Amino acid sequence: MTRGGPVIAVDGPAAAGKGTLARRLAEALHLPYLDTGLLYRAVGRLALDAGQDPASPAQEFASRLLPTDLERPDLRTPVVAQAASKVAAQPEVRAALVETQRRFAQEKGAVLDGRDIGTAIFPDADVKLFITASPSTRALRRFLQLGGDRNAPDAPTRIAELEESLRARDDADAGRASAPMLVADDAYVIETDELEADAVLAKALQIVRERLAGI
Ligand code: DC
Repeated sequence: MTRGGPVIAVDGPAAAGKGTLARRLAEALHLPYLDTGLLYRAVGRLALDAGQDPASPAQEFASRLLPTDLERPDLRTPVVAQAASKVAAQPEVRAALVETQRRFAQEKGAVLDGRDIGTAIFPDADVKLFITASPSTRALRRFLQLGGDRNAPDAPTRIAELEESLRARDDADAGRASAPMLVADDAYVIETDELEADAVLAKALQIVRERLAGI
């Protein structure tokens, strides 16, 4: 398949910083950016709106997804994240979203973040990054993103709850039969526990530039 530009896959578990990185990489490299988690979140949202258990068949929602469904402000809630993970375990839902993702990169290339970009959607991606961090780091980052105060008396409990739900979602995403989250053989793994966002970007840009220069 000839594409109009490079494809950069950014995979990894929830709240590892891959969304921030992927967006900034796309900006720096002048490439379109797609947050593929939003596709699954939108399908999960539509299933919930229809009064449906997200674990029951949701292919019809994936097949008739509209661009406006991805712009809804209510996709970033924990309830929708869990629903997304459940619809994402259905092979029919994944199959219905494959072409959308591939077409997105066709004209100019793209940076895409998700769980299976380097393994299932673009096994031939020009660069594959896998961004990860320990569950406790990810839970703390998510807590702060949600506006939490580290010194509040209930902070430890809330962080522990977040960690528990992140772990449960990771287990479901990595344990499913259909396109599970896993590290592609040829992916560069970046551990972000000790790195600020700027340092992650610098490291990723260095990898991408070296890889693209060698192609
Ligand atoms: O990246 P996110 O947290 O917005 O993703 C929400 C859920 O969607 C995640 O728990 C698993 C699923 N997902 C997926 O299965 N494959 C992708 N490429 C992206 C997300």
